[in-house]
Amino acid sequence: MTTTLGLSDDDLSDTFCDQNDELLFSRISDDLSKHGYSVNVNALPLALAEQLSQHISAISDDSFKQASIGRNKGRSNNLTVRSQRQSWISNDSLASSNWLKWASELQCYLNQHLYLGLSTFESHYAHYRPGDFYKRHLDSFRGQSSRRLSIVIYLNRDWLSTDGGELIMYADNEDLTGLRIIPSFATVVVFLSEEHPHEVLAAHRDRYSIAGWYSPTLSTNV
Ligand code: OGA
Ligand code: MN
Repeated sequence: MTTTLGLSDDDLSDTFCDQNDELLFSRISDDLSKHGYSVNVNALPLALAEQLSQHISAISDDSFKQASIGRNKGRSNNLTVRSQRQSWISNDSLASSNWLKWASELQCYLNQHLYLGLSTFESHYAHYRPGDFYKRHLDSFRGQSSRRLSIVIYLNRDWLSTDGGELIMYADNEDLTGLRIIPSFATVVVFLSEEHPHEVLAAHRDRYSIAGWYSPTLSTNV
């Protein structure tokens, strides 16, 4: 362990992490280390979920852009794989700022407990209209992308099993059955981006969520 100005690494990381949501964060951390994913129903702090829900319903249709597939050169709009619309999140509203703050507290906690070395976070509001879906995919491919950890939260009240739009989370590439997750209000799903293929079944009503990705600092020496 290194020491800086009389403080150990542990003291330093305790100093910089603002942890308001210790119980949820520790559950996510335990689940990730055991299974590589974590599903938490009705877990996002309610005030934040309410605020985000109001905000997302106030975003104009024009601000949601058709999602694309792939990054950089390989980018294309491929409606046979993915048909939802998205709006990237920045610190331009109180709701978005509170979301980014909460997401960075989780990042800090996971860095302390799992040593994931996460340093950047990008996220978007997503709107699936009736009929929209996202076929089975990985959020990150080893060596091609820096995304290490994915998070999705849902902002849909009173979602019924007949409303479709479930997230199916697969244990690995061989898994064909998967775990069915209802996109119900304030549910928080976190998973290792390179390990877990997943898909979104066609929604039968408007489906609102936030999807985000944590990445480590890119090393120039690899
Ligand atoms: C994604 C994604 C899952 C969901 O945006 O990459 O897989 O349930 N979203 O919205
Ligand atoms: Mn995904």
